[in-house]
Amino acid sequence: MRTLTVALGERAYPIHIGSGLLGRGDLLAGALQTPQVAVVSNAVVAPLYLGRLGAALRATGVRVTEIVVPDGEAHKTWLTLNMIFDGLLAERCDRTTTVIALGGGVVGDLAGFAAASYQRGVPFIQVPTTLLAQVDSSVGGKTGINHPRGKNMVGAFWQPRLVLADTDTLSTLPGRELSAGLAEVIKYGLIRDLPFLDWLETHLDDLMARDAEALAYAIERSCANKAEVVVGDERETAKDGGRALLNLGHTFGHAIETGLGYGEWLHGEAVAAGTVMAAELSRRLGWLDGAAVDRVRSLMTRAGLPVAGPRLGAERYLDLMGHDKKVLAGRLRLVLLKHLGEALTYAEAPQGEVLAAITQCCA
Ligand SMILES: NC(=O)c1ccc[n+]([C@@H]2O[C@H](COP(=O)([O-])OP(=O)(O)OC[C@H]3O[C@@H](n4cnc5c(N)ncnc54)[C@H](O)[C@@H]3O)[C@@H](O)[C@H]2O)c1
Ligand SMILES: [Zn+2]
Repeated sequence: MRTLTVALGERAYPIHIGSGLLGRGDLLAGALQTPQVAVVSNAVVAPLYLGRLGAALRATGVRVTEIVVPDGEAHKTWLTLNMIFDGLLAERCDRTTTVIALGGGVVGDLAGFAAASYQRGVPFIQVPTTLLAQVDSSVGGKTGINHPRGKNMVGAFWQPRLVLADTDTLSTLPGRELSAGLAEVIKYGLIRDLPFLDWLETHLDDLMARDAEALAYAIERSCANKAEVVVGDERETAKDGGRALLNLGHTFGHAIETGLGYGEWLHGEAVAAGTVMAAELSRRLGWLDGAAVDRVRSLMTRAGLPVAGPRLGAERYLDLMGHDKKVLAGRLRLVLLKHLGEALTYAEAPQGEVLAAITQCCA
């Protein structure tokens, strides 16, 4: 087992990464305020893993309430959130009950927001079961739900007490979901960790083959990067850089997700194509050379990810990008690459160059 700490002072918490962790009732029980938990999972993950987790908890004397919600991004809504509150109230869960999220990013965001608001806030634990959730969404305390007018538009910052990433759960993950998670892993190398980018170039085939050791290392290194960024800018208020840098490729990517309709492309797929667009724009601004952009393309391709966006029309992209949360005071602030391994936020990119980069990166 590998352990990292998210150093947020009195809200600091450990991230444990390794094999067999779903069975470690001791690790979970040690993080509880009282021996009472509500495990939130979904209809796909619960049949696979809730039995193991529940048994491990009960074996240490913990009382377990199970709340199973429908699967999918379409259910990251107010309605599902309310189902969680119904479950918590029906079982008379009190202010000391710990909510445990068992699932991917959707379950984590939903359960986290439920924990942030149930009885004005109860303790929370993340047990992520997708690669994306293990390297990204379970760390950092962003929780929330979607509104019909926008993704993640309602939510709260609510840090977990513990993150338990059992790498065994990745064995059942569909290949497309594994690739989508790799897009975020590659992101950390690109924005702030060149040695990790080099490591990824050497070990990408091992990751695609789900080599346990390689996966554990990639998760650890990703979480270490995310933790550092979060500690430096917990609520994404830094004027330049900070937590916003984690959105490399995301403004372009959100345009793809919204333009095609949610669910057509996975988030990580859209981020991959969006990252290539950001790299291409960085080349046009004189920061990257062609060889560096090729390195980005080649890594994404090897990870089974798209490197070109759908042909929505560059103007349409720009219009959709204007609706992104990262737009401050009407200016399009993009995350771009100064070099491989160093990102920056930039609001001065000439519109013509942005349009040209998009056009060049559409299939
Ligand atoms: N809070 C954050 O900081 C943050 C960061 C990034 C993404 N997110 C959010 O995360 C969500 C995406 O998360 P995701 O990619 O994990 O999607 P997801 O939660 O929808 O999971 C993907 C699919 O895999 C299934 N699944 C989960 N674990 C499995 C397993 N071990 N074996 C087999 N199937 C499994 C799920 O049921 C689902 O069908 C989005 O809603 C996004 O907004 C949040
Ligand atoms: Zn993302």
